[in-house]
Amino acid sequence: MDQPVEGFSKLSKEEKIDWIAHRYTANPDTTVTLLKQYWNADKQLQQLHDEFIENTLTNFYLPLGVAPNFLINGKLYAIPMAIEESSVVAAASKAAKFWFDRGGFQAKVLGTEKIGQVHFLFFGDPRQLSKFIEDIQPVLRADTRGLTSNMENRGGGISRIELRDKTSDIKGYYQLHCTFETLDAMGANFINSCLEQFAATLVREAGRNSDFADLDPPVEILMSILSNYVPNCLVRAEVSCPVTDLGAESGISGAEFARKMVQAVAVANSEPYRAVTHNKGIMNGVDAVVLATGNDFRAIEAGVHAYAARSGQYRSLSQAEVSDGIFRFWMDLPLALGTVGGLTGLHPLARLAHEILQKPSAPQLMQIVAVAGLAQNFAALRSLVTVGIQRGHMKMHLLNILNQLSATPLEKEILIDHFKTHTVTHNAVVKALEANRALG
Ligand code: MEV
Repeated sequence: MDQPVEGFSKLSKEEKIDWIAHRYTANPDTTVTLLKQYWNADKQLQQLHDEFIENTLTNFYLPLGVAPNFLINGKLYAIPMAIEESSVVAAASKAAKFWFDRGGFQAKVLGTEKIGQVHFLFFGDPRQLSKFIEDIQPVLRADTRGLTSNMENRGGGISRIELRDKTSDIKGYYQLHCTFETLDAMGANFINSCLEQFAATLVREAGRNSDFADLDPPVEILMSILSNYVPNCLVRAEVSCPVTDLGAESGISGAEFARKMVQAVAVANSEPYRAVTHNKGIMNGVDAVVLATGNDFRAIEAGVHAYAARSGQYRSLSQAEVSDGIFRFWMDLPLALGTVGGLTGLHPLARLAHEILQKPSAPQLMQIVAVAGLAQNFAALRSLVTVGIQRGHMKMHLLNILNQLSATPLEKEILIDHFKTHTVTHNAVVKALEANRALG
C-alpha cells in the first residue's frame, strides 16, 4: 500500500504541484503546465487567492456573467452571476426582460434573525437548570460584551438566549438556543465567538452553583455552533400581472399559460422528485449570485433545502396562483447573507459584484438573490410548460459541444448559423461539423 504523505502543507506551492503531478497524473509535465497556466500574472493577486485556503495549487475559473434589466422594487439592477451552466444567465436575462415590461419584481425582507446553539448535557433537576439559566442571563451577556459592543452600537447583537430541553430526544441533552441580529454581516464568526463564550460562562457558572454540587461535571458542553437553518431570516420575492398581460406564450394564451404554471407549481408542491429539480432550478439563480458576491453558497443551500422540507415533506419553494384575473408567482427564501466581512470585501471580483449591485445592504442583497431565484424558476417553468427545456438548453450548450470538438472560430460561426434553424443534439453537431469539414 502507498504511504501517506507527511508534512504536505509545509511544502512550497511548486513542491506540492510537483508531488501531485508525479504521484497521481499520467503526464506530470502537462499537469504542471496546466496548473501554472491558471496562475494569475499579478503575483500579489495570486497570493491573495493562494491564502484563501490551504494547499492551493492554482485557481479554478468559473464564468462571471451579468443578467441586466432586473427591475426590483422600482430600481434597475444588473445582477452578476458566477456559474458554469450554459443557459442560466440567458434565462435570467429573459425573465428579467419579461417582468420589466410588467412592472418588475417586488421583494421584501420578512425577518433577519440568525440562530446559534450551545449543545450540552446536564443530568440534574431540569427546574434548577431552568432557574440557573435565567439567573445567569446578565452574566452571559456581560461576558460577551467585548464581542458584541460594536455590533450593538450599530443596532445588532444578541437578541435572545433560551434554554431548550431536548431530553425527550437524547438523554440529558439541552441547548442554549440563541438568536442574533448581525446587520450587514453574515455573522458566522460573530455568532460562533459569542456561543463559545456562552459555553465557557455556562461551565464556569455551573461549577460555582451550589444546586449542582453533586453533579460531576455540572454541565458537559458538546459543541457551540451557528445554525445554517434560518427560517426567520426570510425574504419574499414576487411578480404579478393580469393574466391577459402574460401574452401569447409559444402558441398558448395567457390564461392557458397561467393555468399551466399554477399546475406545474402544484406538482412540485405534492411530488418530492419534481420538487427537488424545481428547487434546483431556483438555486441555479440563487447560488450564482451568492457565489459572485462572495457569500457561502453551501450554507445557503443547506438552509434553503431544510426550509423546503419544513412541513415534513420536501416541497416547492415557489408558489403560484390566479385570483381575480391576476397571475401571482412568489417565493419565500431563508437567506443569511453578508455584504461586509468574509470574502465579500477580500475577493476583488466579489467586491466588484457588490459595486455593480450598487453596494447593497444585507437585506437588499437578500432581495436581489431571491429575485434571481424566482426569475430562474419562472424561466424554467415557462420553457417546461411550453416548448420544453431542451431547445433553450441545447442552443446555449452548442458552444460547449463545438469547443469539445475543437471547432475553429470560422466553423463555430457557420454552425451557430446552421443551428438557428436546426435542432441541436450532440450527434447533429458532430454530423454538421463533419459535413462542413468534408466540404473543405
Ligand atoms: C436545470 O439546471 C434546471 C431545471 O431542471 C429546473 C426545473 O426543472 O424546473 C430546468
